[in-house]
Amino acid sequence: MSKALDGVRILDFTHVQSGPTCTQLLAWFGADVIKVERPGVGDITRGQLQDVKGADSLYFTMLNSNKRSITIDSKNPKGKEVLEALIKQCDVLVENFAPGALDRMGLTWAHVQSLNPRMIVASVKGFGPGPYADCKVYENVAQCAGGAASTTGFRDGIPLVTGAQIGDSGTGLHLALGIVAALFQRETTGRGQKVDAAMQDGVLNLCRVKLRDQQRLAHGPLKEYSQFGEGIEFGDAVPRAANDSGGGQPGRILKCKGWEQDGNAYIYFITQAPVWEKICDVIGEPGWKTDPDYAKPAARLPRLNEIFGRIESWTMAKTKFEAMQILNEYDIPCGPILSMKEIAEDESLYATGTLVRVPHPTRGEYITVGNPIKLSDSPTEVVRSPLLGEHTQEILRDVLGFNDAKVDEIQASGALGDAPQRIAAE
Ligand code: COA
Repeated sequence: MSKALDGVRILDFTHVQSGPTCTQLLAWFGADVIKVERPGVGDITRGQLQDVKGADSLYFTMLNSNKRSITIDSKNPKGKEVLEALIKQCDVLVENFAPGALDRMGLTWAHVQSLNPRMIVASVKGFGPGPYADCKVYENVAQCAGGAASTTGFRDGIPLVTGAQIGDSGTGLHLALGIVAALFQRETTGRGQKVDAAMQDGVLNLCRVKLRDQQRLAHGPLKEYSQFGEGIEFGDAVPRAANDSGGGQPGRILKCKGWEQDGNAYIYFITQAPVWEKICDVIGEPGWKTDPDYAKPAARLPRLNEIFGRIESWTMAKTKFEAMQILNEYDIPCGPILSMKEIAEDESLYATGTLVRVPHPTRGEYITVGNPIKLSDSPTEVVRSPLLGEHTQEILRDVLGFNDAKVDEIQASGALGDAPQRIAAE
């Protein structure tokens, strides 16, 4: 079956997480993604957090599926020549180097345009233009600068970062959308363009409900925040709201049976207004359906601690899965707190391709996340990440059309590093 991005060729100059998540998505949709890596070194994540000695780390393998790898020293004149030849053959150049690094390689926007006016150049940087434009940025820096950390955690604790990689993978997603939009616009203009996604902007985009609350604060207390019911005054900035729901339907994380031994024996419970009467029946408080202190959402807001305390006495008598099953029968929105162990063992996620088991020649089989976006006419088959420089020769010959003599000349210049890693029988 054909793929949505068949025929699109990506020159993938990305490393670490933000850029690679973007190009992995494009590869899953069928683009030919050629990952350019430094000879002998490669993407730094290949060697980071290694669990199997001598094999590419999970950090790398889980971010670089369905790509081809070519090693090129971009600072070697012959390497530059290969890069420029590739720019002429590709549709998109994606990079997430520190600010200025691409220009220092000589690949300025003007130069890329002169080589290939149809080329789209897509970049992730930590910050957009402004006082921090030159800063290097990693995930947690973006979470802090994008407003997520100040609004995550407990009111009386320090700011917290979240395990969801909203700065890296989140910005990778934003960039992928920008690239697809630019490819679409190129259909009518015939021209490439620059696509920039700053990590601070991406995090803020995902945190917009907190910017909403910042503005609401000017008009009075945020009544759905627990601290309102607790009688604690609001300051001039949006406070951390622990596990309060971010929307207009109050929610909490509640204990379930076994919580004393199992740190994940909890359920997220939402007191959604349309099902309030069902909630009252399930937990055995039918009187709350008509009691003016509980019947209407506004009356409940100052009493959330009491209400959730009562609901918790019900959830604590059930496992999180039992509670989930009963509540779903009544259409009451809830969700078990799933550990990564439980997720990795959930066969239904493998059945949908959300999780995938992938064979690998040097590290053995590993689990990775499949494409979370399912297209009915463009199914994703996850292919293991490439070894360092695995496709160098293939790309020089098939994509650039170089003959043996030309390939030997470039190899001899040192621009490609040593011969590629040998692959044991797969
Ligand atoms: N051949 C030769 N040199 C290469 C090369 C290649 N194939 N690939 C990269 N390099 C060089 C670059 O040209 C750069 O050299 P320069 O500083 O002399 O110009 C150098 O490698 C290092 O690149 P840099 O991006 O500065 O890496 P770093 O490890 O110092 O910083 C980040 C890492 C992530 C902090 C930085 O890249 C960054 O801020 N990126 C933008 C934001 C981002 O994406 N952050 C999240 C990452 S998950």
